[in-house]
Amino acid sequence: MPENIIIEREGRVAILTINRPDKLNALNEQTRGELSGALDALQSDEQIHVVIITGAGEKSFVAGADISEFAGRTPHAQRAVMRSKSGFGSIDEFPKPVIAMINGFCLGGGCELALMCDLRIASENARFGQPEINLGIIPGAGGTQRLTRLVGEGRAMQMILTGEMIDAQEAFRIGLANAVYPLAELREKTLAIANKIAEKSPIALEMAKTSVKNASRMNLREGLAQEVDLFALCFASEDKEEGVRAFLEKRKPEFKGR
Ligand code: COA
Repeated sequence: MPENIIIEREGRVAILTINRPDKLNALNEQTRGELSGALDALQSDEQIHVVIITGAGEKSFVAGADISEFAGRTPHAQRAVMRSKSGFGSIDEFPKPVIAMINGFCLGGGCELALMCDLRIASENARFGQPEINLGIIPGAGGTQRLTRLVGEGRAMQMILTGEMIDAQEAFRIGLANAVYPLAELREKTLAIANKIAEKSPIALEMAKTSVKNASRMNLREGLAQEVDLFALCFASEDKEEGVRAFLEKRKPEFKGR
C-alpha cells in the first residue's frame, strides 16, 4: 500500500492525491515511485478512463522535488534517479488522459509534473514557477522543454532564469493553466471536465492523445502521416460504429472501449 499517495475512484475517474502536506507535497523518491506504481496499475484498469493528479491540503499541489534529497548527491546518482521508475517516465508515457488539479504551489518538479499532464486546472491561489535556478540548478524533468513548447521561449525563459512565481491568472493568460476556479470549486469543476472526457471512447481518447503529443515529437510531415494512421485505426473499433450509429439514430452513444 502506498504511504504518500491516496487513490480514490469516482466512476471512470481515478484521483491520485500526493499526500505530504507538511512538506507541501514535495516529491521524494518514495512518492514518485508510488505515483509511478499507481499509474502502472491504472493503465491496465479498464474501468478507469481518466486520471486526476492533485496535492493534499489547500496550500500546495507539489512544491517541487524534495530538496533534502539533493544534498550531497553526485551527478551520476541524480541522473540514475531521473531515468529510473521513480523518475517521471510512467506519467509521460501514460496512454489515458491525465488532468493536473492544481490546488496551490506548483513549483519546480511540481510544475514539470503538471506539464506532463494533458490539462492543468488551477485554483485561484495557485502559484506556478520553476525556481531551480535559486538552488544553482536547472529544471531537469522536462521544464526547459515542455514549458517552452507550451508557453513559448520568451515566457519560459523568464520563468526559468528569474525563478519567480506567476499567479493562476497569469498562468491562464499564457496558456499554462487551462482554467482557473475558486479553490472551493476546484474539485467539482475538475471532476466535471474529467467526467465529460471519460464518457468518450477510450480508444479514441488514446489515439487523440497520442496524435496531439506527436505534434511536439515529430515534424509536421511525420505527425500528419501518423494522424491519418491513427484516424484510420479508429475505424477498426466497435466504438466508432456505435458513435456513428448513435449520431444517425439521434441518441447518446454508449462506448465500450472495444
Ligand atoms: N523540498 C523539500 N521540502 C520542502 C519543499 C521542497 N521542494 N518545499 C517546501 N518544503 C518544506 C519546507 O522545508 C517546510 O518543512 P519544515 O516545516 O520541516 O521546515 C515545509 O515544507 C513548509 O514549507 P515552508 O517553506 O515553511 O512554507 P512557506 O509557505 O514559508 O513557503 C514555498 C512556501 C513554496 C515558497 C517554499 O516552501 C519554497 O520555496 N519551497 C521550495 C520550492 C522549490 O524551490 N522547488 C523546486 C525544487 S527543485
